[in-house]
Amino acid sequence: MRAVRYHEYGGSDVLQTEEVMRPEPDKGELLVAVHAAGINPVDTYFREGAYKPASLPWIPGSDVAGVVTAVGDGVTEFKAGDEIYATALGNWLQGTCAEYVVVPTEMAAPLPESVSFAEAAGAALVGVTAWQSLIATANLEPAETVLIHGGSGGVGHMAVQIASATGARVVTTASPKYHDTLEELGADVVLNYARDDLQEAIEDAGKPDVILDHRLDEYLPLDCEVAAKGARIVAIGNEEAQATFPSVPAARAKALSVHHVSMFNTPDVGTVLKRLGTLMDSGKLTPLVYDTYPLDEIAAAHDAVLDESFLGKLVVTP
Ligand SMILES: NC(=O)c1ccc[n+]([C@@H]2O[C@H](COP(=O)([O-])OP(=O)(O)OC[C@H]3O[C@@H](n4cnc5c(N)ncnc54)[C@H](OP(=O)(O)O)[C@@H]3O)[C@@H](O)[C@H]2O)c1
Repeated sequence: MRAVRYHEYGGSDVLQTEEVMRPEPDKGELLVAVHAAGINPVDTYFREGAYKPASLPWIPGSDVAGVVTAVGDGVTEFKAGDEIYATALGNWLQGTCAEYVVVPTEMAAPLPESVSFAEAAGAALVGVTAWQSLIATANLEPAETVLIHGGSGGVGHMAVQIASATGARVVTTASPKYHDTLEELGADVVLNYARDDLQEAIEDAGKPDVILDHRLDEYLPLDCEVAAKGARIVAIGNEEAQATFPSVPAARAKALSVHHVSMFNTPDVGTVLKRLGTLMDSGKLTPLVYDTYPLDEIAAAHDAVLDESFLGKLVVTP
């Protein structure tokens, strides 16, 4: 099969499209013909060696949507021909930027009926991250106010919609060109993250009970200032640990909690994907795909996911 691999860590130029052996599904696993694979910032962290994959050479990619072509022993939930989507691959398991990938059944769910392969592949990792952060970790409740930094991001645009679906009041930040779309997706208040009076504007919108923060180094002091008493701050970015210490007195005064979430630790990814699928099929969650690349142009997608501004997701198709 054709697969993208890197044999050493480095820039996007280490990504090569190669012919490799098609994998076989082991017990409890699915062999999936990849129709679309999502691109995420974490793919570049692995490629650069900041996070270490299980071995080299390595196939990047966490997200997949495709068709089951074979199943391993003991698999009863899925059969050949089923359309599925899955995530949390590309870490200790080889990734999804290939013609075929092996997926443990617990990381897969049926493809939602209302979305394309590309939309589902774009939705998986960011949807699970938003769900783990807002629902499983922060226990966001309907009457609460949530602040979502960077609402136009992959995680951000899913988080805005999931929070809105719970009935919470949604305040988010984004560049002005994305404000109208984020309001259509369910945000009650959208603020330009670059405005000088961001803190006052957030306070005017209502003190948040839950904050989803993808840049804790930059925003933790502000989070502590604007947060309601007892607020839960969920951090998902690659922040430095020492960024948290100057904010300890403010956090103590309001009994704030800071949770660090990695979607790779989600105990049952398939169950979260099923719930996201229910939201998609009921029209409450619309994953946006900004651009699609052929497999052998993956280097451009890896560069764009870090360097370009866009609303939605980048996807590769083999
Ligand atoms: N912990 C986990 O499990 C997990 C899972 C997924 C992602 N992440 C991390 O979460 C972060 C976001 O991921 P993503 O996939 O959503 O990335 P993304 O699609 O690249 O989105 C990043 C967003 O940040 C916005 N942004 C840039 N500068 C900002 C600022 N100063 N203040 C507020 N927002 C700003 C961007 O808006 P503009 O385009 O307007 O600049 C963009 O909407 C990354 O660090 C990623 O590694 C962690």
